[in-house]
Amino acid sequence: MANDWRSLIHLEPRAGWLNDPNGLCCFGGKYHVYFQFSPDSPSGAGRKCWGHFESSDDMKSFDYTGIVFEPDIPEDRSGVYSGCAVIHEGKMHIFYTGNVKLPGDYDYITAGREANQIHVVSSDGIHMGAKNIILRNSDYPKEMSCHVRDPKVWIEDGKWKMVLGARTLDDEGGILFYEANDPDDWHFVRFLTRKDFGYMWECPDLFDVEGKWFLGLSPQGVPHEEYKFQNVYSAGYFRYEDEDLKGEFEEFDMGFDFYAPQTFIDKNGDRLLIGWMGIGDIPYTNKTTELGWQHCLTLPRRLSVAPDGALLQTPVVDYNGGWGSLSDDAPEFPYAVKAEVSEGASFELSIGGAKISYSDNVAMLSFEDESGAGRTVRKAVINGLKDITVIADKSSLEIFYNGGRYVMSTRFYPDTQRPVIRAKGIDLFIRSINKTEVRGFE
Ligand code: FRU
Repeated sequence: MANDWRSLIHLEPRAGWLNDPNGLCCFGGKYHVYFQFSPDSPSGAGRKCWGHFESSDDMKSFDYTGIVFEPDIPEDRSGVYSGCAVIHEGKMHIFYTGNVKLPGDYDYITAGREANQIHVVSSDGIHMGAKNIILRNSDYPKEMSCHVRDPKVWIEDGKWKMVLGARTLDDEGGILFYEANDPDDWHFVRFLTRKDFGYMWECPDLFDVEGKWFLGLSPQGVPHEEYKFQNVYSAGYFRYEDEDLKGEFEEFDMGFDFYAPQTFIDKNGDRLLIGWMGIGDIPYTNKTTELGWQHCLTLPRRLSVAPDGALLQTPVVDYNGGWGSLSDDAPEFPYAVKAEVSEGASFELSIGGAKISYSDNVAMLSFEDESGAGRTVRKAVINGLKDITVIADKSSLEIFYNGGRYVMSTRFYPDTQRPVIRAKGIDLFIRSINKTEVRGFE
């Protein structure tokens, strides 16, 4: 059977382009998943809006409720850019960046762009109050370029706190901290960076997991290495202690398609992360574009802290039945496959044209056929691989190594709904996953 590449467990628009997850929260007994949405074109042209999915229970089904923000005031006329939601005293407080590109002959880095931070209050996550401008270019330190965006806000000890992604006039990426007693009245606290680590930090997220703090960010301009930072832009985190960035930057995901993640707290108090299963300016393509839509979000991933202080990501999926052995028939999407890896073992696992392999402490994801749509190879050094779990949807794979200590996500476009699974060197187990129902599309 031909594959229409429509995701069965990943949120995606019916038509148009999706990028960053925005405003993730649990509010009024529902989960809210907003996203950067260009409804006019699958290549991202036209209006940049926020689309909205909500789930009444545990994210097993969603309703698409439509566009909640579009560029309709002078301060967001070139795009309702990324932002977040904070719940306070029974209301949802949304913060986002209004992007403005002034007409003229500008570089749009040092001049010609407004970055307006905007606050909106909502009682239900669908009907939005007035757009209130809380920060403008003149409110940022004078060393900043016009690239200041993606507010992530939280409340700590009764104080409102915000981080913003920024690019300095010297092409240094970093974050700006702001604080407020009143969410409409913010003051600047400080700028934080790591030397020689990219020219722009997008989508910062300062969050705690099991009492440890982390700064998530999506840096642009970090030099490529053989086993790290292989994508055009990266996404990962530093540890955050004593108000400073500690240790090495760890990538959240080393696959071909992952960027701009955001975290939030679920109804059990756990911290979940959802990323965009896509990246801008990639040298490969997505075959759904010809069919009218492009990109999806990753599955939610529950975060915990590994013994080495790094983050572990566990996919939140609704399994159907238990683990079983592979049969001779190729399985139907969506499903998970997993294997334990014995010490020193090498293996190869392929799902259609996607090849996942491990030998000499290097994990590789590669494509040798058209199903990768131009994707070649991604590599990660994983000393002592113990286990691997792959979540497979009709046009995506999310690969979790060592309980989610390392992750690789990729889009792929097999021409059949049932690509053949082959495994060499490991015993593979398979488990079916229930589809995520999405209502509300015409
Ligand atoms: C990240 C990003 C954000 C921006 C948004 C615009 O992918 O570039 O920095 O707010 O996308 O869609």
